[in-house]
Amino acid sequence: MERIICLVIGYVCGLFQTGYIIGKVHKTDIREHGSGNAGTTNAFRTFGKKAGALTLLGDCLKCVLAIMIVRIIYGDSMSSILPLLTLYAALGCILGHNFPISMDFRGGKGIAASVGMIIAFDWRIFLVCAVIFFALFFTTHYVSLCSLSAYAAAFILVLVFGQMGKYGMDQPHTIELYAIMAVLTGMAFYRHRANIGRLIHGTENKVFLSGKNKN
Ligand code: G3P
Repeated sequence: MERIICLVIGYVCGLFQTGYIIGKVHKTDIREHGSGNAGTTNAFRTFGKKAGALTLLGDCLKCVLAIMIVRIIYGDSMSSILPLLTLYAALGCILGHNFPISMDFRGGKGIAASVGMIIAFDWRIFLVCAVIFFALFFTTHYVSLCSLSAYAAAFILVLVFGQMGKYGMDQPHTIELYAIMAVLTGMAFYRHRANIGRLIHGTENKVFLSGKNKN
């Protein structure tokens, strides 16, 4: 039951769509511009640096908020499986972000929310993923490639740290944790399937911080 409650808390938090709200402030639907995604990269591409930064912050914080709520509710009573419940909250949040019932199930790709998840779940993994992301970004400028590489790294690191006993849970719950992380990683790749196609064909749009981006 607590897993479902965590998923629901996460899903409700995930419905707060920062990029979509910023689009509405600009009297447009962000999903009709650029890549059609209601996320950080497309907010940056469409509305500029400030909008991109705000979208990253808002979508990241909603996942942190979901995890904090779960920690407040279950921090004492379910402390032995708290890392697992944290990931259920994050899964709910990313589902809410990617498939929002309030937006005809057409949301984003869940990367900024996943940043929030990793920061709250294990800051060591966040640091490694951030290094991978920015190293790839400044050499390729393909945000989708950076996002997916960092996601794959996060998945591998959760497996490694789990096997090292870093999350302090018994084996069945640790395996469940791996399964949730596998679902999250699979969903990220699924949501980026069009980007992956463009990367393979060499037609993916590059993103430059200077702002010289195609829309
Ligand atoms: O965070 C999403 C990013 O990885 C790709 O975004 O708009 O280029 O599809 P976009």
